[in-house]
Amino acid sequence: MRVLAISGSLRADSNNTGLLRALREEAPAGIDVEIWDGLKAIPPYDADDDVVPGPPDVEAFRELVREVDAVFFATPEYNSSVPGALKNALDWASRPLATNSFRNKPVAVISSSAGAFGGVWAAAELRKVLGAMGARVTEAELAVGHGSEKFGDDGRLADEDVRQGLRDALATLVAEVPAEVAA
Ligand SMILES: Cc1cc2nc3c(=O)[nH]c(=O)nc-3n(C[C@H](O)[C@H](O)[C@H](O)COP(=O)(O)O)c2cc1C
Repeated sequence: MRVLAISGSLRADSNNTGLLRALREEAPAGIDVEIWDGLKAIPPYDADDDVVPGPPDVEAFRELVREVDAVFFATPEYNSSVPGALKNALDWASRPLATNSFRNKPVAVISSSAGAFGGVWAAAELRKVLGAMGARVTEAELAVGHGSEKFGDDGRLADEDVRQGLRDALATLVAEVPAEVAA
């Protein structure tokens, strides 16, 4: 089974991307977690460029989402909401709405921020956006506050409770993948 992992942060030392690396380590056999590195290449949404085919990086993103069985997001919170780059990529992916690549796709959303609440508002807004696109938004939930404190000097996630939260969130997501795909 293929799970696409999308971080809402572009910076190299991102805690959210670090959570996705830990998710990849925690994934059981048979579940491939692929961390997407294409976010920065997605151009700003422009309806004038929204033709068939769309910009190459947008088409590649749409195709990748179509191919995978589920998508797992880890997002920071910017000004109490979803980072603009991530929202922009989803706006592109949502077109055309009726046949967009996220429709019926099982998705999980977790978050991490510098504050104590761990980006719960950003996660809630991201779930709302994905729901509007027709994705199958699962109940998976994990908000990691004070993100930087959870990682060791080697950059690896050092918090066992958070690792357990990642395993639980992945299990919740995988349970939503239709049986014929999961087999
Ligand atoms: C533009 C901007 C807005 C931010 N707004 C919030 C916020 O509303 N709530 C919060 O908890 N942290 C906020 N932060 C702090 C981020 O949560 C913090 O930078 C976090 O570590 C980013 O995630 P990353 O490590 O994955 O890059 C903001 C950071 C930036 C750059």
